[in-house]
Amino acid sequence: MKEDVFPRTAEFEGYRLTALGGVRLEDLTARFGTPLYVLDRAELIGRMRTYRQAFGPDVGVAYAAKALCVVGVLQLAAAEGLHLDVASGGELHTAARARFPMERVLLHGNNKSVEELEYAARLGVGRVVVDSFSELDRLAEIAKRTDHTFNVLLRITPGVLPDTHGFIATGQDDVKFGFTLSAGIAHEAVARVLAFDRLCLRGAHCHIGSQITATHSFAAAAELMLSFFSDLRSAYGIHLAEFNLGGGLGIAYLQSDVMLAIEEYADALLGAVRSGAARHGLAVPRLFVEPGRSIAGPAGVTLHTVGTIKRVRGARTYVNVDGGMSDNLRPALYGSRYTVCAAGPGYTNALMIPFTVAGKHCETGDLVAQDVLLPDDLAEGDLLVTAVTGAYGYSMASNYNRLPRPAVVLVGDGHTDLLVRRETLDDVVSHDLPLVRS
Ligand code: LLP
Repeated sequence: MKEDVFPRTAEFEGYRLTALGGVRLEDLTARFGTPLYVLDRAELIGRMRTYRQAFGPDVGVAYAAKALCVVGVLQLAAAEGLHLDVASGGELHTAARARFPMERVLLHGNNKSVEELEYAARLGVGRVVVDSFSELDRLAEIAKRTDHTFNVLLRITPGVLPDTHGFIATGQDDVKFGFTLSAGIAHEAVARVLAFDRLCLRGAHCHIGSQITATHSFAAAAELMLSFFSDLRSAYGIHLAEFNLGGGLGIAYLQSDVMLAIEEYADALLGAVRSGAARHGLAVPRLFVEPGRSIAGPAGVTLHTVGTIKRVRGARTYVNVDGGMSDNLRPALYGSRYTVCAAGPGYTNALMIPFTVAGKHCETGDLVAQDVLLPDDLAEGDLLVTAVTGAYGYSMASNYNRLPRPAVVLVGDGHTDLLVRRETLDDVVSHDLPLVRS
């Protein structure tokens, strides 16, 4: 069923998606135009709640802002009691604008600048996840200069390679992130932190990758990390209070994708951490997780308007829409596949035939989805909807070919909130300065 990959409030008439959050799609496009990112409030909040319930009150669930970092979404995450993972000064600034409680914010990044760290100190972010020795020195210097104490976690790469796209696997040794566990570098990092007065070591962090569809890699990472915790107790007599296992739960983009439920993932992680702690005779550390994709992804869809249709004899029929790789880079960057269907009002009894949906950018690889079944009477001006674009869609959007970035709206209970207004052509050129001397 197509419904499986669409948000929970999706309403269909035959094969066409007609409404989301109680709002008819033609009303949305009449008000906001296309391309348009639409977020289903019930799906977004529902997923945040499922995470909190599945992990229970003792686990910190930090929304990974990189999946979709806009003020309105961070306000919802704050109201739902989530923590927040930010990975740059820009994401931190968005959190500040959303008045996210700073004690619940974690700052990440493999190359944080002095300005970013100073900003974190000024705002009083709850935790900094330290990625390198240079960062430790910078942080210690800022702490001293500003008389600020940072709570820190160390980002450890445990040496686990999960089964996912190579670009988004992050837990192996050969990677730019963190302190390598196997080479003894992680131990050295602990010794260094302990030497600084104003750096308070709260725990360790690992994030093995994203779009992971099985539990065994998470369990393997948990075991390696807890064995590290145990070694630290022997070497330094310390017990790390917090263990952050990162994000990474995969989601279904196609109806045929079989995925773990949030509850199964939570049970597997909790089980691995409890049994690992017991095996090593450790008190169970406070667990944190950082889901991004599995919160925002299934809550969002993208609406496009069909502009031109090109039939290539003996090959495909291309449907060219008014966006593409500038509003969703994932097909071009990772070869990701998506579910597309007809949307808005129209006849519902047409024959379904395969089309390739392409964008409007100057690249052959600018495809939204290949070989998707759409009605044979599809015409210019019709609406198409791509499912599961809530995560890493808007957040990786660009102005390629100087396309203005689309608006983002949140729909629920028949009501629409504009979270991000559509860029204008003037916005697109607003940072350009003409040559004074030509
Ligand atoms: N924590 C850390 C430290 C991370 O680096 C990430 C994602 C997350 C949490 C959230 O992971 P999630 O639950 O969303 O899988 N642009 C790529 C995904 C990059 C993920 C980067 N880090 C994509 O579109 O697939």
